[in-house]
Amino acid sequence: MQKRKIKLKRPAIILLWVLGGIFACLIVLGIFYSYQIHSLTSLGYSKKASHQILLQFKKDYIVSVGENKTLNAAFESEDYVEKNLDHYQKIKYQKQENLIANINKLIKKGYSDYEISMIVTHGDDQAVSDFAKRDKVRYLEEFYSISYARLENYDRYLKYMDEEREDEETTVLHVNLNLDIPDYEQAVEVAQFSIDMFVNKHHYLDKNFKVDDLVVVDSKYTVGDQKIKANREAYNAFVSMLKDGEKEDMHFLINSCYRSYQDQEETWNTYKGLYGDNYVLKYVAKPGFSEHQTGLGFDIASTSANVFVESKESKWLFDNAYKYGFIYRYPKGLESITGYNYESWHYRYVGKKIAKYIEDNNITFDEYYVRFLDTN
Ligand code: DAL
Ligand code: ZN
Repeated sequence: MQKRKIKLKRPAIILLWVLGGIFACLIVLGIFYSYQIHSLTSLGYSKKASHQILLQFKKDYIVSVGENKTLNAAFESEDYVEKNLDHYQKIKYQKQENLIANINKLIKKGYSDYEISMIVTHGDDQAVSDFAKRDKVRYLEEFYSISYARLENYDRYLKYMDEEREDEETTVLHVNLNLDIPDYEQAVEVAQFSIDMFVNKHHYLDKNFKVDDLVVVDSKYTVGDQKIKANREAYNAFVSMLKDGEKEDMHFLINSCYRSYQDQEETWNTYKGLYGDNYVLKYVAKPGFSEHQTGLGFDIASTSANVFVESKESKWLFDNAYKYGFIYRYPKGLESITGYNYESWHYRYVGKKIAKYIEDNNITFDEYYVRFLDTN
């Protein structure tokens, strides 16, 4: 049988050529486009941002800048504003949902790129959004060149500085510690036990707070016949400190460590009855506000002197306790920060790393907390 040849008419042939041509162009364009996307993603930009960069014809700009997280966020964001491109490039990136919208607002308010970087690094998304709504502030660098200054505390810093006539650094430290709020008011609950937990007149423990690993102290290490409990890790550290002390003819004992909420209530009432309000407020924590409720605070007594501060042991501990993870918690002259009068006998276990830092930098645990532990 003879094969029938299909003969196409001329217009159909032309149409096929055109379609073929378009198809080929699309393929070439597709390859070219994905090559462009690839070159942007390999610079560290997301696919989403890369598409936008190409749509906005900003590839050359991006290639000249290289990897930049803020630019990436800008091109990913619906809030991208072309005229702010150079600003985005210079502003420090933060992982915040409204970063680009807030940057746009702050640029409009007249802040420099350096100032905006400072703003976005000192607060979370909410704090930055709130700050971007307010009029341009006067003391930005004064407060926010301090690493732990908080954006949401700006008004409190101003008020405190004005009322207390303190410098910026002290102001930020004190306000972050809530020292501008009356003691025991609006206190923050500390719900979780940890070796570096922070308890003071503004950070409290629930009545039923449970200390991890509470153990009974061997009576040979206690003053008198008391049944004293302590956190195990802290207790072990104490025993090794005590044993090393003994090698140098230092003899000290534990006078008090863990006190339950009820124990602290009794202590408070006893001292209040004996010495009155003024005394207890300076020397005894209200129930719920005592470090003794953590099982990490140790009151130490010496066997060589009745008044601890006069003993050679007190001097030895002052110089050596940090090596075992203990810090001197309520130092002389720093009552305004710690909230308590100087207590030569009260040591707090925080672990060796923190104790060494505090010793080397000659700061209080309160300051350490504000700098490194405060995540509220
Ligand atoms: N003496 C310390 C401050 C306390 O009662 O916890
Ligand atoms: Zn104490």
